Amino acid sequence: MMDTSELLFDLWYVAAPSAQVKRGKTLPVTLLGQQVLLGRDNAGAVFCLRDFCPHRGMPLRYGAFDGEQIECCYHGWCFDTKGSCTKIPSLAPGEKTDISRIKVARFPCKEVEGAIWVYVPRMGARAPEDVPEVPVSPGPQGKHWYWVDSVDLPCHIDHAVIGLMDPSHGPFVHASWWWRTRRSMHLKEKKFEPTARGFKMVSHKPSSNSRAYKILGGDRMTEIAFQLPGLRTEHIVIGEHHIVLLTALTPVDEKNTKLHQFMFTTLPLLNLLKPVLRPFGKAFIQQDVRVVVRQQEGLSRPHPALMLVGDADQQALWYYKLKKDWLAASEQQAPFENRITAKTLRWYS
Ligand code: FES
Ligand SMILES: [Fe+2]
Repeated sequence: MMDTSELLFDLWYVAAPSAQVKRGKTLPVTLLGQQVLLGRDNAGAVFCLRDFCPHRGMPLRYGAFDGEQIECCYHGWCFDTKGSCTKIPSLAPGEKTDISRIKVARFPCKEVEGAIWVYVPRMGARAPEDVPEVPVSPGPQGKHWYWVDSVDLPCHIDHAVIGLMDPSHGPFVHASWWWRTRRSMHLKEKKFEPTARGFKMVSHKPSSNSRAYKILGGDRMTEIAFQLPGLRTEHIVIGEHHIVLLTALTPVDEKNTKLHQFMFTTLPLLNLLKPVLRPFGKAFIQQDVRVVVRQQEGLSRPHPALMLVGDADQQALWYYKLKKDWLAASEQQAPFENRITAKTLRWYS
């Protein structure tokens, strides 16, 4: 039987917000169990190498980076940002070693709109030359994300995704005067449609029980979408203005997931208020972190049986279905086909 708790390889993941990787610096991160070194050269271009010196296995993060070359801390071998060896200090003149053939594995890495994406192949496998495009987010293209927060969720990505797309925890986990309260719960009815790699809640007027929304006023539409491997986007259009949220979940390993939260807006007032609103965004995310931490106490015994009940849990079922089909397609090297069909879901929140 296929293990659907498996991580999904051969896909783009958000590895870090751009702001975390400064010019001439590196940042070690773990993606799907693999240690990699992100970096930005002196010209501003980002790169990603396996954090492993091919000589004797020293992690390159302990080396020195001058904005062009990484020098391993152990014997001083140097590598350029493409991973090619450029220097072995101990080689005597006349020794016949073609150092340019010595390579550190390099991962496809792209910076898009203020986020650094890395294409992660299976451990030990090489990424293909022609990798697909980085997923496109909604709203104006070429925007620059405002990075709200990155947090560690001590759980498998499946629980992180399900928690992220779970519509019924809001009034319990996120109850606060500025968002919503339990008393504001009412029946929701939303239409969902399949997308290339996921599903979306078709453009609708946002919940009237969210105070934060009420303040914004105007004629508005919201579209919330999920796509594999763990990307949620929310696009709010108010007149001719946009608010776009991107939540990117990236597995660190089988037991840990990183959540990166970004936002973008063309609303002048909201842009001005970003530094003031950031703590609210962080507080909101911390509410989710707290439930994940507590939930892990319950999940710590082996294979507990869990339930997915009613329309409120339908998105979780869809996620499992997408994932199962994705794994089957990649196993058979066949194109992925989304078998989700359009459906209207009803729940209280
Ligand atoms: S381990 Fe890196 S140079 Fe020897
Ligand atoms: Fe939440």
